[in-house]
Amino acid sequence: MSDKGTPILHMLDPSEHVSPFDVNMATDAGFKVIIPYTHVELKKVTALVQDAIFSRPPNYGPQTGVFFGGKDAILALDMMKAAKEAMVPPFELSTFADPAGSFTTAAAMVACVEKVLKDKFNTDWKGVKVAIFGATGVVGFASSIITALEGAKVQLVAHRGVERVVKAAELSKERFGVDLEAVPGETPEQKRDIIAGADVIFAAAAAGVQVVSKEHKELAKNLKVIADVNAVPPAGVEGMELFMNGEPLPGCSALGVGPLAIGDVKYKTESGLFKQMIASDKAVHFDFRDAFALARSFCS
Ligand SMILES: NC(=O)c1ccc[n+]([C@@H]2O[C@H](COP(=O)([O-])OP(=O)(O)OC[C@H]3O[C@@H](n4cnc5c(N)ncnc54)[C@H](OP(=O)(O)O)[C@@H]3O)[C@@H](O)[C@H]2O)c1
Repeated sequence: MSDKGTPILHMLDPSEHVSPFDVNMATDAGFKVIIPYTHVELKKVTALVQDAIFSRPPNYGPQTGVFFGGKDAILALDMMKAAKEAMVPPFELSTFADPAGSFTTAAAMVACVEKVLKDKFNTDWKGVKVAIFGATGVVGFASSIITALEGAKVQLVAHRGVERVVKAAELSKERFGVDLEAVPGETPEQKRDIIAGADVIFAAAAAGVQVVSKEHKELAKNLKVIADVNAVPPAGVEGMELFMNGEPLPGCSALGVGPLAIGDVKYKTESGLFKQMIASDKAVHFDFRDAFALARSFCS
């Protein structure tokens, strides 16, 4: 077996601390040395990466990982791009962006719902109307891009001021070429209309915030599947059970996917990508697209 070197993970984070969740995941996946870097600015990424690549022989490169955390999906992707551009072949390293766990969580949610759509409704994402609550959050944002790339008609629901979701939609068009619809969901009437028209709902709002009530569910006549990533009571969707995975959601005709069914696939996906970094003989680079491909394999 060739000598690949000790697996080292440099965790770069623009905020004040790295995520203990990600440190645990990386350790359990097999990284032997993990170093947190905090308050990292985009402009510092090139120097940090070049400092790392030239200190190890090229065959150790793939086991030298850089992880991008934080709470900003676009910044994490920009950091990853800067890291890739900083490499000087054959001196390279592997990268993985998963800010606030959002890429692997969104990938898991979309993959779990996709399986229910396929198994119970014999359909894929093409033309499916998806309403996303918590659309300005990192999980909501990443899930909007993944589903839109699969051909869904995605609505980003604003709960306070539509301007921020309009900006997210513009950014998504520019960066990923997808058309997302920004809709105001502030008044009870606006929210009712959105829920009544949706085929799929993602409840991706902040922990402990309920966005879909019993009354909302009664209006959801077209709804096929509703997914809730929030594991902190009260549930993001009234009546959602933590491990629900395609069972009927009481009080409506839709099927539910709960936070711990999603969490199980998220866990396997994040762990699996870390393991792939360690096992690879060449430098690899993972973002939400890779997370979705792997999450899908766990749901097939
Ligand atoms: N199941 C899992 O495996 C898993 C893993 C990771 C995260 N999560 C959960 O995923 C959810 C989203 O996480 P995140 O990191 O994306 O959070 P985030 O970045 O803090 O985003 C939270 C979103 O919720 C919105 N929001 C806040 N209060 C609201 C309210 N009263 N009504 C409607 N929307 C509201 C925010 O809107 P504003 O921007 O307007 O404030 C924002 O869009 C959280 O519940 C988190 O616990 C689950």
